[in-house]
Amino acid sequence: MTRAKKAPTLGVLAMGMTLATALPSVVQADDDILAKADFGYGEYLSGECVTCHQQNGSNQGLPSITGLDAESFAQIMLAYRNKELDNNVMQNVASRLDDEQIASLAVYFASLPPEE
Ligand code: HEC
Repeated sequence: MTRAKKAPTLGVLAMGMTLATALPSVVQADDDILAKADFGYGEYLSGECVTCHQQNGSNQGLPSITGLDAESFAQIMLAYRNKELDNNVMQNVASRLDDEQIASLAVYFASLPPEE
């Protein structure tokens, strides 16, 4: 993907539309966080995550985060950020991420094969 990481709002929206068409139609309204997703940005941001989580989906004492539904992934990250989910490490990680970053990570990790 050659698009600049920080596109103007309209560009992000257009991009989001393309991604959204690949998602179930129930993903709308309150779920439109995924409209902000940028796959390449997610891949870039994932570097931090894979210092703990295994990129190949294997579970080495930490939950595997690959191959999850992107919408569920985003909701989990939002719940850590709101501190609705209890885990200091993940609350910390999520507190530094904005919606676009969470959405981008969600579509990127969703694209990786799930834990074997
Ligand atoms: C310092 C280590 C560490 C880093 C870095 C880290 N995580 Fe986590 N993550 C954890 C731990 C530990 C848990 C398990 C929390 C629990 O058991 O409640 C977790 C849980 C999760 C879960 C929930 C999985 C599930 O099935 O419940 C998701 C999603 C997740 N992390 C995503 C990420 C993303 C995305 C990043 C990068 C932005 C990231 N993590 C970075 C340690 C880390």
